[in-house]
This record gives sequence, C-alpha cells and structure tokens, in this order.
Amino acid sequence: MIPLFSKSENLVGLDIGSHSVKLLQVSSSNDALRLMNMGVAHLPHESFVEGRLAKPEVVAETIRMLASHLKVKRKSLAVSISGYDVMIKKIELPTMTEDELAARMQSELGQYIPYNIDEVDVDYQVIDVSKNRPNFMDVLLVAAKKESVADFNNLLKLAGFDPLVVDVDFFALSNSFEATCGFGDKTVALFDLGASKSLMNIAHKGMPIFTRSISVGGNQLTEAIKDFFNISFEEAEMVKLGESEHKYPIKELEDIFVSTVSGWVTQYQRALDFYYHNFPDDRIDSIYLSGGSCQIPGLDKVLREQLDIPVEVFNPVSRIQHDTKLFDPAYVDYIGPQMTISFGLALRKNREK
Ligand SMILES: Nc1ncnc2c1ncn2[C@@H]1O[C@H](COP(=O)(O)OP(=O)(O)OP(=O)(O)O)[C@@H](O)[C@H]1O
Ligand SMILES: [Mg+2]
Repeated sequence: MIPLFSKSENLVGLDIGSHSVKLLQVSSSNDALRLMNMGVAHLPHESFVEGRLAKPEVVAETIRMLASHLKVKRKSLAVSISGYDVMIKKIELPTMTEDELAARMQSELGQYIPYNIDEVDVDYQVIDVSKNRPNFMDVLLVAAKKESVADFNNLLKLAGFDPLVVDVDFFALSNSFEATCGFGDKTVALFDLGASKSLMNIAHKGMPIFTRSISVGGNQLTEAIKDFFNISFEEAEMVKLGESEHKYPIKELEDIFVSTVSGWVTQYQRALDFYYHNFPDDRIDSIYLSGGSCQIPGLDKVLREQLDIPVEVFNPVSRIQHDTKLFDPAYVDYIGPQMTISFGLALRKNREK
C-alpha cells in the first residue's frame, strides 16, 4: 500500500476562529521551515456565539471553500480547541515513577480539575524537577472538554476533512514562538488578540506555566463603533479597519478606541497580577502580540506603557523562508500575526497524536 504521507510530513494547520478561518502549510527540511500555503477566509458575523459554534454548516462551507481555493489536497488536518474549553495547570507532586504517577492521577484527578472528570479528556506530562521544593516535580495537566473535541470532529467531517491532531491553542502559540524565535531561558508572555477573546500564555523555556482566556477582543471595538454611530456591525467593522467609504469623526473614534482598550488593559493587568502573585520570582521578559486585533494602530505602544513590559508584535511567517513571488511581503506583514495559531498547528507532524 502506498503510504499517504512520507515519513513525517507536516500537517495542514487550520485555526477556526470566530471571525475567520486560517489555513497554513509549511515544509520542514534540515530544520529549515518554509511557507508552502497560507490563506484566510472570513466568517459571517455570529457564526460563533459566546464561544460556541452557532452555524456549523456555514463554517464548514467556509473551510471547504478556503481549502479548495488554496488547492489543499490532504484530508488530514491539525486543529485546536481553545480558551474556556481547556484547562492547563502546573501542579507540584512528590517525585515518583511513571506508574505511580498514573495511579495517583487516576485517583486524585478530580481535585485538580474544575470540571466533572467524565466530561473531559485529560493528559499530563512531567516537565521538570520542582524549582522550590527538593524531591518534588512539576507536572503539567491539560484537560479538554470532550464536547468541544466532538464539536470539532463533527465540523471537520462536515467540511470533508479528518482532524488528525486536535491540539490546544495555547500550545500552538508557544510552539510557533519556539520554532521561530526560541524561548532560551526567558519567560515570555504570548498574547493572541482575536475577535472574541484574548489568549494569554506565559511560558518559560517553552512550557506554558500560566494560561488565561479573557473574553475581550476586536468585536468589542466594532460593537462600540456600531452602537455609537448606530450603524450595522459590518459597516462598523469597515470603519474600524479604515475601509468605509463614509467619513466618521476621528475624535469620537479615538475616544471609543481609548475607552475600549483601557478596559482590555485592566483585564490583562489583572491576569498578570494573578500570575505575579502565584509566581513571585518569575518576572516576564517580554510580551509578544499576535492575532488580528494586535494590528490596531498604537495598541502595542499602549500596552508597553500601561503594563510596563517590553511589547512586540510577533509575526511567525516573516521569520521563515518564503517565496516572495508567491507571498507578497506586504501581505505577509499584514496577515502574518493573525496566522500564529495556524502556524503552530502546521508544525505538527502526521506521526504525532
Ligand atoms: N488591521 C487591523 N486593525 C484592527 N483590527 C484588525 C485588523 N485586522 C484584523 N483586525 C481585527 O482582528 C479580529 C480578528 O482577529 P483574528 O483573526 O485573530 O480573530 P479570530 O481568531 O477569528 O477570533 P477569536 O480567536 O477571538 O475567536 C477582528 O476583530 C478584526 O476586526
Ligand atoms: Mg483566534
């Protein structure tokens, strides 16, 4: 039988956001990553409502059209579930063997997980010896709601695909950073600012040590513009992106921007305070921003000033090899930060689970 893939080929990364679907493919040879394929398709407003898939047929059709437009032949994809449907937690346990850990997890899992354990898939991994306590080790626990994994499987089937890897957004974020910038021994906060949520992943040596999904994002800005000028969501989105044919007063728009973003800053600061409270010895070296909303003009500057941490926009795509005849540099600059999660997913190989 002819194998479907050569030995360990990269999967097609598909990030199903609430605002758009992003697809990306890379190839990796001799450790050099090369962009092979990349595209975005917008979803109609309210395809997702409060984080739940509201219009599966519409989203499936969008995925199908994007894949066909990009001439994706493969049927196997890497996708990710995100935010509220996942819990990542670092716990400290006495040093023990793998079998002992498995037994302990079996009996004590309930106390670490805020969900009914019958409703979640759980994975765990020993990440290090404990920094603070001798004879203890750090274990990373990941719990994902079975219902969300099932939703994704059904959606992908509807679109004619077969999800081979169901990853977690937070891991895709840190994998994309590790593959392009590398963590070294730094502690880095990766923020993915989308339409409906902001993901925060504070990682040390590549391992997420603190993750948060905060329900603020670009839609709030669009909603505020919509309400203030009494226009449709679609028109407000164009106003936000500077694409509307009509003129709206800059002063009012600036006020909306300032008041919305200051609400975000409060939420980010609260999460950072929580992190500092729990990890008092770990300062954050830098914040890297990705996701569509990180392109709001001046946002990086506001965050740098308000959070008092160096802030940079992270564009994984511009950091890997790509043919500039196929991928226009201006397009790569514009779209690259939005592709961070799909990029992290595209790093996954067909041999992985
Ligand atoms: N140049 C830009 N300036 C301001 N906002 C932008 C720009 N480009 C995209 N956005 C906003 O970014 C958001 C979309 O970002 P992204 O594609 O990361 O979201 P998503 O992954 O679909 O959503 P989520 O992850 O929240 O479910 C939208 O609110 C869009 O208006
Ligand atoms: Mg997103």
